Amino acid sequence: MISRRSFLQRAGVLATGLSLEKSAVASGMVAPSMALDPSMLKPFVDPLPLPAVMKNSGIRPDPDDAAKSVPFYRVAMEEIHQKVHRDLPPTRMWGFNGSSPGPIFETRSGQGLMVEWANQLPGKHFLPIDHTLHGAETDKPEVRCVIHLHGGRTPPTSDGYPEDWVVPGKSLLYHYPNKQNAALLFYHDHTMGINRLNIYAGLQGMFVIRDEVEDALNLPKGRYEIPLMLFDRFLRSDGQLEYPVSGDPKSPWVPEVYSNVMLANGRLFPYLEVEPRRYRFRVMNGSNARFFRLSFGDLLELHVIGGDQGLLQAPVKTQHALLTPAERTDIVFDFSKHAGEKIVLKSDSFDIMEFRVAAPGAKDSSSLPAMLRPVARIPESNAVRTRRLTLDETMNKVQESMGMLLNNTPWHMPVTEKPVIDTTEIWELVNLTEDTHPIHLHLVKFQVLDRRSFDVFHFQDTGEMRYTNRAIPAGPEEAGWKDTVRCEKGHVTRIIVPFEGYTGRYVWHCHLLEHEDNEMMRPFEVVEQGHDG
Ligand code: C2O
Ligand code: CU
Ligand code: CU
Repeated sequence: MISRRSFLQRAGVLATGLSLEKSAVASGMVAPSMALDPSMLKPFVDPLPLPAVMKNSGIRPDPDDAAKSVPFYRVAMEEIHQKVHRDLPPTRMWGFNGSSPGPIFETRSGQGLMVEWANQLPGKHFLPIDHTLHGAETDKPEVRCVIHLHGGRTPPTSDGYPEDWVVPGKSLLYHYPNKQNAALLFYHDHTMGINRLNIYAGLQGMFVIRDEVEDALNLPKGRYEIPLMLFDRFLRSDGQLEYPVSGDPKSPWVPEVYSNVMLANGRLFPYLEVEPRRYRFRVMNGSNARFFRLSFGDLLELHVIGGDQGLLQAPVKTQHALLTPAERTDIVFDFSKHAGEKIVLKSDSFDIMEFRVAAPGAKDSSSLPAMLRPVARIPESNAVRTRRLTLDETMNKVQESMGMLLNNTPWHMPVTEKPVIDTTEIWELVNLTEDTHPIHLHLVKFQVLDRRSFDVFHFQDTGEMRYTNRAIPAGPEEAGWKDTVRCEKGHVTRIIVPFEGYTGRYVWHCHLLEHEDNEMMRPFEVVEQGHDG
């Protein structure tokens, strides 16, 4: 048995989920000379790409009401070559309708739509598949995909269940009713055993739902509202993507990936020309594993106005926004005091992009209201049940490496979590590992109650929970509705979850994609009263 530490060193991967070190580490197998040194590239020479708005290609009968119709979109997944930086050759990627990130969906609450997700990818994968992972065995086709709308209240048959993948030449026809509040969602691959590779290759894009409550607020909109998908990638000096591998050719899986460049909407060190006024930034973390701690310039003041599932009750004035993979934040930043300046968006000490603020011009008619949208806190007494669920570290015998599990139960075991539709539960996520894990539940939105440190060894030895400190309530920027929650090591993180919308089978998992692909994912099933467990 090798220790976790030596395994991670062998794999050349940093262990700490929260670390944002300058010395980004990549593959143990890539010779350093092959790695791109981003400091050799001229920064801020490419304009920030803004994703095109997805266009529908007709209408279809509404599956919820045959008397109505809904827009129909055909979206092709294809191999593309796209420039990451002016001075690099185009990079091979997988995208949607010709781009990665894919075009952005713009829709409204209650406005359903249908999407045909067409797999038009080549027959061979260009990133290293680990055939020892469950769901990626050698009898499975190499190229498979299935798309999930992250944060969507979606019927189970359209949710992108990890085993519902299709091969090149085949399509999935999905229905998104969008019966939910305004929020920034995103769509991405969810294929069993290879979703970390498919997403790394580029299969993700944003999806915006709007509603009247948001319209009435007069927030910055149109060209003053900027969607921003951030993620890191490991680039070789020839501009091509490299996915880190372990030292074992039979099992190339690595436990986490931290890469050498950070991209904004797929571009390295882009710039954006802005006016000296308020802007709204719809930001998401699309990394496999990297956390972002965002700041503007020299820790300039910003306002967080929303999170994963929409607006906060009130803006939160701060200098940083912390984003784990799959989390979203909604930021209002006021450039009005910075006319003529250049302001860099950073994640800790890494530069991500530059804002070039124009000379004073037209007046800003947008507002930043003191009250945004009421978010009623759910009383704990509403919960009909509390589940204690562990996040575990185990030794994986096949790979002779660390693995992660939820509740010590591999993916293929029978469903153990069966909440009853229209009831509320508290989930206590007991983190026994040495990492922070962003835990995501499909279908639902929830509220974060608190985090509390506990004696991990005592719990492992006796099963008894001995807290070592008081519970820390969720911070103000986490006080809205969420779908992904940061579970810190040595803490119990409690969430309160109304199970609403649809009955059927969904999944919950860690959104560090390497963990998710290697058993840190479980099904759950929303059931009718009388079928619970
Ligand atoms: Cu972002 Cu299971 O999803
Ligand atoms: Cu999801
Ligand atoms: Cu994890």
